[in-house]
Amino acid sequence: MQNFTHAIPTKLHFGKGVIEKLDESLRPFGKNVLLTYGGGSIKKIGLYDQVMDILSKGGYKVVECGGIEPNPRIESVERGVQLCKEHGINVILAVGGGSTIDCSKAIAAGVYYEGDLWQMVESRHGVLPALPLVDILTLSATGSEYDGGGVISNMKLNKKLGNMYTFPAVSICDPTYTFTVSAYHTAAGTADIISHICEDYFSRTEDSDLADGICETVLKSAIKNLPTALREPDNYSARANLMSISSIACSGIPAYGKRDTCWDCHSMEHELSAYYDITHGVGLAILTPRWMRHILKKDPTCTWRFVRFAKNVWGLDGENETELALAGIQKLEDFFRASGIPMTLTELGIGTEHFEAMAAHANRGGFLAHAFVALTTEDVVEIYKACL
Ligand code: NZQ
Ligand code: ZN
Repeated sequence: MQNFTHAIPTKLHFGKGVIEKLDESLRPFGKNVLLTYGGGSIKKIGLYDQVMDILSKGGYKVVECGGIEPNPRIESVERGVQLCKEHGINVILAVGGGSTIDCSKAIAAGVYYEGDLWQMVESRHGVLPALPLVDILTLSATGSEYDGGGVISNMKLNKKLGNMYTFPAVSICDPTYTFTVSAYHTAAGTADIISHICEDYFSRTEDSDLADGICETVLKSAIKNLPTALREPDNYSARANLMSISSIACSGIPAYGKRDTCWDCHSMEHELSAYYDITHGVGLAILTPRWMRHILKKDPTCTWRFVRFAKNVWGLDGENETELALAGIQKLEDFFRASGIPMTLTELGIGTEHFEAMAAHANRGGFLAHAFVALTTEDVVEIYKACL
């Protein structure tokens, strides 16, 4: 088991009706609020009106920054920073999914960043000085409500880059707001949760019982609750379980004591989104089983980890370890397919044309050499090809 240090300064309010905590969450920071949101779902579900009512009763002055795109763009970050500076904003209130929260984190940090904002996205840094951020989560997927990271895209450069910005001060997580999430985004979001766990679970550390146990519990919960949420979108228990596992999956807790991995599938997926603007979770669902088969074949010394996955997550058993490992991977692929999302790049209209460039960027500096099973740029091209 490895040493670790961990801190999450975010206060989570979870459950039905926790929007009642909104006023007290914003109040310590001041009265000038930048309200950020996406393409309008919060208006359709009545949340916008509810939030505006609370803000007006509380005497807040609200400046709006709507229209934040899925795979949020650097242009939205620039627009938000400008609004904050123009209006003397004290606190950002992000209402939406991971894209809105991520963009808001970059805006919050961008206000204090001296220099070009794309440079902020590209340069290596830890948590930055930032405006306080409060969020109301409406989609269970990224875990942005409980981590300090954000992912920003520059479509002119075909780049989508993750970085640290700031942790939300408060996250308001009411599962009832996710009742309206489409089947497609519910399935994609759950694939993202599953991938966050797999990126930590498939590590060489064998003795971190707590982390492995958390990983397996989260995976089993995703497997149990996604079909229910798809069948009954307003099933509170299913939505609540998906929301709680979304927050923990990307929080760093499932990696306690484990050797770092390179989050290979996330590196490969961000390239797909950067070139083709696809839904993050769909890209991950397509990549993950193909990545698993590739590494299992490349380095059979990792078979034990796949055997554990097959047994503890899928309840499989058998004498032949390789067959068992492959059966667990097949179960995962079948699960994603049954959720109704596309399971090949071809279905998304993606061909081989950018594979070399995407693979080179996914493996920039050769960093995938430090993955659970070391990958070369050629390996990444092979994995992309297996996804066609
Ligand atoms: O834009 P609106 O109109 O709000 O609609 C959104 C969007 O079209 C819709 N939606 C959200 N809540 C809804 C809803 N529709 C109906 N009812 C609701 N309650 O869903 C669509 C997708 O929203 P988005 O925010 O893009 O999804 P998600 O939460 O999956 O976020 C994806 C982004 O997060 C990044 C991804 O790369 C991607 O850019 N990630 C962030 C991470 C982090 N901060 O730690 C880690 C992840 O690995 C990931 O990379
Ligand atoms: Zn993700």
